[in-house]
Amino acid sequence: MADSFDAVVIGGGPGGYNAAIRLGQLGLTAACIDKRGRFGGTCLNIGCIPSKALLFASERFEEAKKDFGKLGITAEVGLDLGVLMQHKDKIVGELTKGVAFLFKKNKVEGIVGEGRITAPGQIEVRAPDGSVRTIAAKNIIIATGSDVMPLAGVTIDEERIVSSTGALSLKSVPKRLLVVGAGVIGLELGSVWRRLGSEVTVVEFLGRITPGLDGEVSKAFQRILAKQGFTFHLSTKVTGVEKKGDVLAVTVEPAAGGAPQTLETDVMLVAIGRRPYTEDLGLEAVGVARDTKGRVITDPHFKTNVPGIWAIGDCREGPMLAHKAEDEAVACAEHIAGRAGHVNVDAIPSVVYTAPEVAVVGKTEEELKAAGIAYKVGKFPFSANGRAKTILATDGFVKILAEAATDKVLGVHIIGPEAGNLIAEATLAMEFGASSEDIARTCHAHPTLTEAVRQAAMAVEGWTMQS
Ligand code: FAD
Ligand code: NAI
Repeated sequence: MADSFDAVVIGGGPGGYNAAIRLGQLGLTAACIDKRGRFGGTCLNIGCIPSKALLFASERFEEAKKDFGKLGITAEVGLDLGVLMQHKDKIVGELTKGVAFLFKKNKVEGIVGEGRITAPGQIEVRAPDGSVRTIAAKNIIIATGSDVMPLAGVTIDEERIVSSTGALSLKSVPKRLLVVGAGVIGLELGSVWRRLGSEVTVVEFLGRITPGLDGEVSKAFQRILAKQGFTFHLSTKVTGVEKKGDVLAVTVEPAAGGAPQTLETDVMLVAIGRRPYTEDLGLEAVGVARDTKGRVITDPHFKTNVPGIWAIGDCREGPMLAHKAEDEAVACAEHIAGRAGHVNVDAIPSVVYTAPEVAVVGKTEEELKAAGIAYKVGKFPFSANGRAKTILATDGFVKILAEAATDKVLGVHIIGPEAGNLIAEATLAMEFGASSEDIARTCHAHPTLTEAVRQAAMAVEGWTMQS
């Protein structure tokens, strides 16, 4: 057990563990500290992975009830929530153990405890038993991630008033679920419980759902979700919640002010965003600068204002996404090792894992208009894609935005089946600076959903084969 390392990472999420592993691969001595007791961070423990396990299972449950009959399959469908949760927990256990294995393989020391920077090059780790160890590090990477954004006046108990963490482990299917915030978490976890039988009501402060998405996609998304049974209260804010026996009385009022109204529910999910987790780390003492949102400020190479201290992932600027944290981790480790690391911030995809999925990379129409960039649009609906018809998933479309002057792809927006997988092609195209014609003239296998991407690219120049 060394007490001096080339680099020490605080935080063992996708940012932290990937940085530590890459440092090890590059021949540096590295350690990774996490207070959770299990490596993998938010993503593996209480985020991406458990939520996708529930989304997968609940989607199969709904498909079995809704679609099997259309395919001539007869089956008696029931739900054992305990087994479903075991499926989720098993995967989380396997993946978090996998991180510990990768640490060993790459000679990274995994340290369980709470890390605090006490001086440049020095970290104190408080172990769960209270013992304190001081570690010297030539480089320190802050990868402490993010935490749930609290809602004023509402106390989360993780049983009836839950954050995403509680919503991943409800003990029974609530009859009614009220979601505060029509963002990614609200719609993904809202979908899980709606499919399992809850009546889901979503209260959103702004006038539209998923505010960061392209407006046309967001509108189509809301329409599809409403058809599935979601109820939306837009331009509405929650001002309080009261426990009345088994019922929660939630007070809401128009965002712009107005008469309050009470909505009754059994469980309330607070999903109004996440905030960087940068408190109690000793940052003030060593002088590491943060912005007004509490994010650690870095240059594009992840260096903070204090030499030898770096930051990556959710605790710095940019989308709070696991793959963004992972890419920054690798680039940061490479910089520390004296190599050139780079993350193309214009080509980071983002996916909402509902059914249909929504996936985007690059600019929205609204962003291009605001930037004064002239663009062309190509669109293709999944209702005209043969493969989509065979899998009973024809809702949605692919939309490609290309620069008018050069035909360079500037944004791709997909709402439809397998959108999260389809976006990889668009991301690669953007990484390579492709034109829409490059995609349109690339042979795509038939019959696949990828043909919808190609047809949207063809539509940019008006030669799509849509009937
Ligand atoms: P984190 O994963 O948050 O890891 C930070 C770690 O640092 C934590 O384990 C924390 O315990 C530890 N830590 C903090 N302070 C200290 C300290 N002082 N000492 C020691 N340890 C400390 N993203 C996607 O890309 N796809 C998805 O499908 C997706 N689904 C999500 C679903 C949910 C419900 C949630 C909540 C998030 C989801 N995300 C998803 C976001 C994703 O989880 C984050 O973007 C990602 O985990 C960020 O990685 P990170 O390494 O920066 O931080
Ligand atoms: P979000 O930012 O996606 O959505 C929050 C929503 O809450 C917004 O629509 C916002 O307008 C609304 N809101 C804010 N304050 C409100 C209030 N007081 N009352 C009502 N509505 C309010 O945040 P969310 O869903 O909590 O997710 C946090 C982050 O986690 C995401 O931004 C994303 O980075 C990450 N994540 C990613 C996933 C993925 O990649 N599939 C899945 C889940 C989370």
